[in-house]
Amino acid sequence: MDENRSFPPTKEFSEKAHIKSMEAYKSMYQQSIQDPEKFWSEVANDLHWFKKWDTVLEDSKKPFFSWYKGAKTNLCYNCVDRHLEGPNKNKAAVIWEGEPGEEKVLTYQDLHREICKFANGLKSLGVKKGDRVALYLPMVPELIISVLACARIGAVHSVIFAGFSAESIKDRVQDSGAKVIVTEDASYRRGKVLALKEIVDLGIQDCKTIEKQIVVKRHPHKEMPCTMQEGRDIWYHDLVLDQAIDCPAEEMDAEDMLFLLYTSGTTGKPKGIIHTTAGYMVYTYLTSKYIFDLKPEDVYWCTADIGWITGHSYIIYGPLQNAATLMVYEGAPNFPDNSRFWNLIEKYKVSVFYTAPTAIRAFMKWGDSWVDKHDLSSLRLLGTVGEPINPEAWMWYHTKIGAEKCPIVDTWWQTETGGILLSPLPGVTPTKPGCATLPFFGIEPAVLSEEGDEVRAGILSIKQPWPGMLRGIYGDPERFKETYWCKWNGEYYFPGDGARKDEDDYIWILGRVDDVVNVSGHRIGTAELESINIEHSSVAESAVIGVPHEIKGQGLVSFVTVKEGKIADDELKKALNSLVAQKIGKFALPEKIIFSSDLPKTRSGKIMRRILRDIAEGKALGNLSTLADPSVVEEIQKQF
Ligand code: WTA
Repeated sequence: MDENRSFPPTKEFSEKAHIKSMEAYKSMYQQSIQDPEKFWSEVANDLHWFKKWDTVLEDSKKPFFSWYKGAKTNLCYNCVDRHLEGPNKNKAAVIWEGEPGEEKVLTYQDLHREICKFANGLKSLGVKKGDRVALYLPMVPELIISVLACARIGAVHSVIFAGFSAESIKDRVQDSGAKVIVTEDASYRRGKVLALKEIVDLGIQDCKTIEKQIVVKRHPHKEMPCTMQEGRDIWYHDLVLDQAIDCPAEEMDAEDMLFLLYTSGTTGKPKGIIHTTAGYMVYTYLTSKYIFDLKPEDVYWCTADIGWITGHSYIIYGPLQNAATLMVYEGAPNFPDNSRFWNLIEKYKVSVFYTAPTAIRAFMKWGDSWVDKHDLSSLRLLGTVGEPINPEAWMWYHTKIGAEKCPIVDTWWQTETGGILLSPLPGVTPTKPGCATLPFFGIEPAVLSEEGDEVRAGILSIKQPWPGMLRGIYGDPERFKETYWCKWNGEYYFPGDGARKDEDDYIWILGRVDDVVNVSGHRIGTAELESINIEHSSVAESAVIGVPHEIKGQGLVSFVTVKEGKIADDELKKALNSLVAQKIGKFALPEKIIFSSDLPKTRSGKIMRRILRDIAEGKALGNLSTLADPSVVEEIQKQF
């Protein structure tokens, strides 16, 4: 709250940046708000369209907005084919390093060929425009190729983060009705080999829509036996072997679905967020260009996993539309030792580096000596995403990694927003540690009270639609409306974050205002965990909360009461943890499970999660007289 330090970009950076001054930003911003249609129409002209739009924004069916209606385009074409004429054809599109150390480079021409072959392979299996294809792959080039091949033929990709469990795969595949799933025999993580296909085999057992499973071969079979089911499973390399190296890009309607990406909400069921073609395309193109200030000579590295939205928008779609060179690393930051990231930056001369606060905090903890051994002078711009960054971590990033010369873009956005809504512009905005600062073009944020009045500290809202916004929740238009467009009479988009506006009108994100917890930048709904706990036959009631965590930002604490006659012991804790691992994945395990005879409740029986949070954080509890049984508080307090 008292953070007053301010760091303007260096003169040298600003002079070379796409946008060079606050005046330039303000004037473009004014135009984008006063005449959004003109603004979004002009910027879209940089891209390739088979047919231009009839209207830029159609808002008669609010909140079901359409962008670039009447247009025909293809996002894969704009990411790859558009660069094949001219100097970028033989430029590296993807520089990949596997965790064990192998390297692969794909030029734009190579990438085009690989995408076309796989796209033809998908077609040969009967995949058509509109069909859903699930992708359960770690960070290997085939994941980028598969995503773009789907976009090329108009199939809807649904990437499932490869840390999710078999049951999560099942839920997502069943909800999307995917016809094909792509996976890998096994993946490497921190030196260990994980049998990925086995997880998928289990996950798709009851998925009637799946016709084929395509398997990328990553391991010599002696080490990793892999059983292929006759008629259903097919090796990736066999599928692409004889395919033609050209495949026409499908002419997609502007609002044709591009992908589904599942994310946690406040209920037990993850939502399939829908993104469509043209608006998402223009929005990721423009935000990447200006926020990462991408230039042809940059080597850009975003450390996110393609299983999350950051990997979709800012590994694949945005940077490739800008003809960037991507550095992509498969594995863990601490393998074989804690300096792997710095080693990669030095080796590939990474110039733009985009990572998460949770990673920065882990590096700080591991100590400076891992960083000091490396030459990081190639870096010119740093970014962070996924959760609020504490000023201490920001300062470390600024001094240790950025040598006090690299601007830091603290980018605020969500799976639902498709792209970044709040961020400094690197050549323009004086940054403040921990602050996402100002809106991107076309974005009009407001900080509101519950009643809808503008306030200094309250709930973040967005006044106008923007091209990259979600178009719905798969199969559930009502939930889409209720979740995002019902607060404040449906006048504003409600992202679910708290925010504060300071004296410079900078926006500080204060964390979620709903029951979503952000663990290492992974969104987890507390309701999802509660319903898993309750599935256990010994459990009577459960409440799950998020608590501050030194490295992860937030961690989860599970409160559980057991049924009459059941035993609350370590065995039960183990059983509950394995249920979470089985239903979601290990990344969603709570830090702590607390047993008590009851939970703090109001007299009408409502669980007081606020009191649980205060206990967990060691805060003064104040008046407990509204509780039905105040003695449970003491019982729980003793366990912290
Ligand atoms: C949080 C990730 C503070 C926020 C792109 C949001 C942030 C949720 C920031 C979305 C940031 C993301 N500062 N908080 N720079 N970026 N968040 O859908 O709570 O995985 O609502 O998208 O992460 O998470 P999601």
